[in-house]
Amino acid sequence: MRMVDLIAKKRDGKELSTEEINFIIQGYTQGEIPDYQVSALAMSIFFQDMTERERADLTMAMVHSGDTIDLSAIEGVKVDKHSTGGVGDTTTLVLAPLVAALDIPVAKMSGRGLGHTGGTIDKLEAIAGFHVEISKGEFVELVNRSKIAVVGQSGNLTPADKKLYALRDVTATVNSIPLIASSIMSKKIAAGSDAIVLDVKTGAGAFMKTVDDAKKLAHAMVSIGNNVGRKTMAVISDMSQPLGLAIGNSLEVKEAIDTLRGEGPKDLEELCMALGSQMVFLAGKADSLEDAEAKLQEVIRNGKALEKFKAFITNQGGDASVVDHPERLPQAQYRIEVPAKQDGVVAEIVADEIGTAAMLLGAGRATKESEIDLAVGLMLNKKVGDAVKKGDSLVTIHANREDVAQVLEKIYANIRIADHAEAPVLIYGTVT
Ligand code: URA
Ligand code: CA
Repeated sequence: MRMVDLIAKKRDGKELSTEEINFIIQGYTQGEIPDYQVSALAMSIFFQDMTERERADLTMAMVHSGDTIDLSAIEGVKVDKHSTGGVGDTTTLVLAPLVAALDIPVAKMSGRGLGHTGGTIDKLEAIAGFHVEISKGEFVELVNRSKIAVVGQSGNLTPADKKLYALRDVTATVNSIPLIASSIMSKKIAAGSDAIVLDVKTGAGAFMKTVDDAKKLAHAMVSIGNNVGRKTMAVISDMSQPLGLAIGNSLEVKEAIDTLRGEGPKDLEELCMALGSQMVFLAGKADSLEDAEAKLQEVIRNGKALEKFKAFITNQGGDASVVDHPERLPQAQYRIEVPAKQDGVVAEIVADEIGTAAMLLGAGRATKESEIDLAVGLMLNKKVGDAVKKGDSLVTIHANREDVAQVLEKIYANIRIADHAEAPVLIYGTVT
């Protein structure tokens, strides 16, 4: 087999066989096929697309390029949730204990990563004492006993994807549905869950700027999952404005606690119900999505979800008293209000730019080496569709420095006030 022939085949719109796809991914991972040939192939895929079969084969070739996690020692159907990225997305912190409260095993591997705020692990580390450095044995034991544990990512998962993603980044081939779908699904499948729920975001803060593209991506990922034997469902949700009110690590932990108590922001609660219902349904603990939602509402009402969050924190060395006393979470030194400059209705809160404002305060990492400040961030006091009077606070900045001029400027530039506006649709559809 020669790589040049395979590039020509895809360039001409023909279908690559399973053997050919395996040859490419193995050769690339081992350094036998050079970047420039894979770049040409990626560009051919960008223009010619891939069939469902090719997408599933590409995904599995990347899964087998490195280690895979074996969760078979954990009893029950392991369901994982993945979001395609967003700003102030507190859903994982809410969903993990919420679903575990229904005796569904939540065996979560998380990373730190880059972004507007920290990853799930950073957020949890805002709780004093909480740690994710637990052994594989402890992890399995905790999930079997308590139904929930979070561990830091380990092992050499999907090295082919790491190489390919870095190459796509510099060859203008990131934005290709078959390549994004196989990239995300390979990581989820290598992480070992039996079923996968996807939150595909659309809007300013998302990869997919239009609902149409988000739907295509959702269908592509659901079809890959189901074709390789992992039951998969997706929700397509809005990320034109940040989700919920809190953007920042401690602030989001508090927001998650409020939501588990049934007192969270409406949009966060609604999305958690939609995603959580799919998780419960796929885990086989409900007969329908409606039945699943009723069960989730019940564990919020009877306090079991909050109890599960406390047990989870205690199990991993954390101070569970923060659940009843959120003021014990790291607090920023300064709170600075951002007053509206005119009367009207909030028409736009540009998600990614507001996320960047939180990062400038220190809530997220600009580079892998950056230190994050768990206390800082932004609290939105208004969302799109809310009426405002001149002088009302749009946002409260939680900062550990007095000079926030740059952050203020970014916030004002990205919150638009108009005469009329309506709240955006939150959920554009589900793919099952
Ligand atoms: N996220 C991924 O993990 N891969 C992509 O290709 C795009 C977004
Ligand atoms: Ca939030």
